[in-house]
Amino acid sequence: MYITTTSSPMVELSRQQDGSHDLTAFARDVAEGLRQPRKTLPSRYFYDGTGSRLFQQIMELPEYYLTRSELEVLTQNKYEMAQQFSRQGFFHLIDLGAGDALKTKILLKELSNQQSEFDYVPVDISGDAMRQLSGSLRQELPQLRVEAVVGEYFQALEWLQEHKSERKVVLFLGSNIGNFRPRESINFLSSIRSYLRPGDQLLMGVDLRKNPEVILKAYSDASGVTAAFNLNLLHRINRELGADFNVDQFCHHALYDPQEGVMRSFLVSKTNQEVHIQKAGVTVHFDAWEAIHTENSCKYTIPQVEELGRQCGFKPASVFYDSRKGFADVLFSID
Ligand code: TRP
Repeated sequence: MYITTTSSPMVELSRQQDGSHDLTAFARDVAEGLRQPRKTLPSRYFYDGTGSRLFQQIMELPEYYLTRSELEVLTQNKYEMAQQFSRQGFFHLIDLGAGDALKTKILLKELSNQQSEFDYVPVDISGDAMRQLSGSLRQELPQLRVEAVVGEYFQALEWLQEHKSERKVVLFLGSNIGNFRPRESINFLSSIRSYLRPGDQLLMGVDLRKNPEVILKAYSDASGVTAAFNLNLLHRINRELGADFNVDQFCHHALYDPQEGVMRSFLVSKTNQEVHIQKAGVTVHFDAWEAIHTENSCKYTIPQVEELGRQCGFKPASVFYDSRKGFADVLFSID
């Protein structure tokens, strides 16, 4: 008897972000954001090695309820979700921004128990994350067919459209939709819709409106991990773009607007100062207490999410909540 080990196939559409990402684009985006009258930095650059480790720590904070709440939603509703996904036979389960797939594994195990006919297509910008995930799934679910795709969401969806003809169930978990501006979230979901067909489904995680104090604490925890995460963006610019941010002279500030349902995170300059960003070829002036906006995290009502889906061509099918009704995964179908 002999054993062959075939490693799971992996499709690399992009090799950025694994230490060799596009520095020119990073420099350009930083210069562009800091040139605005209201300074901004794009949140997509949070997740270098240190940033990803800090975000793992955020997810374990007592204040950061989001990850635990969604784990509860999936654990409590996995049976029903798996049933709805499998209703029309074979499907590709496409996980946008899969990461370590901690949450998705709950569904993968349930689908396997129910002997559903499907394969798993995790999509992530990080090649390292996809290699690790493929490895861990070979151990935990050896029967599962996995084809990881490394790339940006739309690159991946385009690839899927060409290479996978069967029914698709798309997962967009973790309330990542909340990090887009309203207009962008419509564009994003409409683009996803354009790659899908009648019979396909979308399961999307959304953080819901709740006591503003609870939301605020999730983004400015007592132990300062969130502050370190936000400030790491300046360290990263120093490291990769040869800048001289004196990071001690900046602080993290988070603000929740309960009428708009938007959490806003900032980095605030404590003094009047100048920063040189060598590889972007710019010098940036900060007034004392001038802020850089780094991230929006939108909190929704269910009617808002359903309307957002409808506007983009999706039909709300089911809403799955955690026990506190603070987080939901909404299932959309396409007629
Ligand atoms: N996208 C995550 C969220 O909105 C990331 C995040 C958590 C974050 N805490 C943060 C981003 C603080 C900026 C600042 O929940």
